[in-house]
Amino acid sequence: MSILAWDKNIILDHPIIDQQHQKLVILVNEFYEAIRKKEANSAIMELLQGLIDYTEFHFKDEQNLMRLNQYPDYLPHVSEHRKFVAHVADCYTRISEGKLVISLEITSFLRSWLVEHIKVTDKKLCTFLAQKSGKQ
Ligand SMILES: [Fe+2]
Repeated sequence: MSILAWDKNIILDHPIIDQQHQKLVILVNEFYEAIRKKEANSAIMELLQGLIDYTEFHFKDEQNLMRLNQYPDYLPHVSEHRKFVAHVADCYTRISEGKLVISLEITSFLRSWLVEHIKVTDKKLCTFLAQKSGKQ
């Protein structure tokens, strides 16, 4: 079972960004599955940390692409990335400190944020990149 589907809804026709988004979808689904199956907290937290690490790697790649192509909406896009990482890192800390209980609600947030961000913010970036490279 998965919480997030890799489908045309979130495919942007940019090979690198799509490949990394697909990996993110897999990581979110693994995290969701681990919670659903009530796996050990340590295993769930390891998955959450992996998700944070990969997200940071992916955001850096996107941000490099934006800088390289002098993307005009760089700052608002980066601000969305920063807020997301801060929120997820905060969840991680609060869980570690026993102030937040691991729940499927966290995965709902991840899914909604990712889908919205990909469909709106990343789509805008990919459209810009495609136009710039003369594909559209
Ligand atoms: Fe993005």
